[in-house]
Amino acid sequence: MIKFSAPGKIHLLGEHAVVYGKPALLAAIDLRVTVSITPSPQALASKQKENIKKIIESIVKKTLNIRTIPSYNLTISSQIPIGSGLGSSSAVSSAYIAALLSFLNIKWNLEDVSSLAYEAEKVFHGNPSGADNTTVIFGGILWYRKKTEPVQILSQIKQFVLIDSGKPVESTKEMVEKVRIKLQESRIKVQKIFDDQERLVKELIVALKEGDQNQLVNIIREGERNLESLGVVSKRAQEIIRLVEKVGGAAKISGAGGVKSGSGMLLCYHKNSKALLALAKKNHLPTLSIKAGEKGLLQ
Ligand code: MEV
Repeated sequence: MIKFSAPGKIHLLGEHAVVYGKPALLAAIDLRVTVSITPSPQALASKQKENIKKIIESIVKKTLNIRTIPSYNLTISSQIPIGSGLGSSSAVSSAYIAALLSFLNIKWNLEDVSSLAYEAEKVFHGNPSGADNTTVIFGGILWYRKKTEPVQILSQIKQFVLIDSGKPVESTKEMVEKVRIKLQESRIKVQKIFDDQERLVKELIVALKEGDQNQLVNIIREGERNLESLGVVSKRAQEIIRLVEKVGGAAKISGAGGVKSGSGMLLCYHKNSKALLALAKKNHLPTLSIKAGEKGLLQ
């Protein structure tokens, strides 16, 4: 059996702007997907798995000029909530590609898996920045900008709480498209937001390195306001975020967001994370305590 695992990710800041060449800060988290491949003459798979299989196999075949792939059984087990902005699809693609290349006895490195996973992201999301697949493969806390080498950031702040604002109705593809339309309609306003997110990402690196918790709270709050101005945060999520702010914390969407219903998992920070857990409990909101900066793709 060939087995690989990949982590989920959070966007500390810079989502959406990263699609337009701005930098973003992301982190691999301690929730993982494990993909196993077992050679088998009779491969049975569910419809959902068949779909993923079709997409990944066709990318691998096309890119590496392979005609046929021997039959195998595919197992996917995941700790990452699906469709909540935590990079579940990137993690599945990455672990699966690594397992499939190994099954085919093809030599690979992390860059190879990342570029194939990026092709899969295109199928799933239309116009991805490449930030998600890079983070789940290389791991750690990453400064990511399109067309440049990612940079690992060392941080003293690693503990975050995720509060579930509900699964978005919209796909990542739809949310990215929404921002594209907004940029077309209000170019100056949106460009200004992107510029401000870039400033905040740079300030965030310093705050994380220095362990400056007050500054971290301020930056997340400001970054979230910008995301709200971009129109990617639902009313429901904004209500929860205001509650977190009221108790002295900060919260933001992480990833594409959503407006019609939930906005996915909210990335929350408070000097005393117990205050966040108590707030969530009081409001009957599901939570996950996570560590940021975990390992990327692993065998
Ligand atoms: C999705 O996790 C993050 C977005 O910035 C899209 C992307 O970077 O591809 C919204």
